Amino acid sequence: MLDGKKSLFSGMQATGNLTLGNYLGALKNWVTLNEEYECFYCVVDEHSITIRQDPAELRKRARRLLMIYIAAGLDPEKNCLYYQSHVSAHAELAWILNCYTYMGELSRMTQFKDKAAKHADNVNAGLFTYPVLMAADILLFQADVVPVGIDQKQHLELTRNLAERFNAIYGDVFTIPDAYIGKVGAKIMSLQDPSKKMSKSDENPNASIYLLDDPDTIIRKFKRAVTDSGSEVVYREDKPGIRNLMDIYAAAGGKTIEEIEKEFDGRGYGEFKLAVGEAVVSILKPLQDEVARLEKDKAYVDGIIRANAEKANYYANKTLRKVQKKVGFPERIR
Ligand code: TYM
Repeated sequence: MLDGKKSLFSGMQATGNLTLGNYLGALKNWVTLNEEYECFYCVVDEHSITIRQDPAELRKRARRLLMIYIAAGLDPEKNCLYYQSHVSAHAELAWILNCYTYMGELSRMTQFKDKAAKHADNVNAGLFTYPVLMAADILLFQADVVPVGIDQKQHLELTRNLAERFNAIYGDVFTIPDAYIGKVGAKIMSLQDPSKKMSKSDENPNASIYLLDDPDTIIRKFKRAVTDSGSEVVYREDKPGIRNLMDIYAAAGGKTIEEIEKEFDGRGYGEFKLAVGEAVVSILKPLQDEVARLEKDKAYVDGIIRANAEKANYYANKTLRKVQKKVGFPERIR
């Protein structure tokens, strides 16, 4: 809770190109939530450097991500859209929470294990404590809900445990956040291997639809998507490829699985894949046009960055000061 209103926090990394998984699993759901909640959406650039980045490229992607937030329909007057690195309270609270987190808990995080295996030459301490910074993000804003895809659920559970542990020692400091996971699209799989999630870091570009892929590329990738033997469009355990495409079609077009089965009864995979591609183009094209427009409007975007960083700092510092006092840091003399 923040100033008597329910609060919401979420974020995305500015690494790689955003995928359709990020959009359907998270961003698409965010747009509807600002009536009910005070919303904070962060570009988590500090998390991004747990993997080595090219500085100029990171800066460019971070700005583009902020524009994608706006283009997806997040009104910057009603949602606080900002860069993590512009609010130093994130790193400061993360340090404090590090001192309340056990090595054993962090060792169990599956994302750490995956990333450590993938980047074996750079298993840095930041990668290990990544979930603590994520907990700080959420707890700084006293978030009641955190809309994410399924892959972030374990990090959310750790955040709740840390908040409960801290509150048990110092009283009611943090709101205990709940994950908000959408009914459809919470786990979009790779188009080339439906046993793996669609990921920004996949080396095969045909495995993912990137939000800024042009329409022809999108259609081509869907045509090439790995499907299963048979030809019926039905949602069955032994058809992971078709199931994934049905999830995408359902999330993109607002249809139910039953409606989709009926629509494609007797029509085969080829027609279905094309329809999924077209449905995705029809949601991504307007977003891409809006990003292109924003790229040209530097003054407007800069104004949003300035105003929202100020707002985020105000709320974040309020929580940080409270925490600093609780743990026994000396008062500031004015
Ligand atoms: P990130 O940047 O990997 O992903 C951003 C959001 O997209 C969701 N997502 C997916 N959903 C469905 N299907 C997929 N294939 C798929 N891939 C990704 C993720 O679940 C996420 O919601 N650690 C976070 C960023 C973060 C954060 C936070 C999130 C930092 N601090 C605080 C929430 C609250 C991450 O790496 O997400």
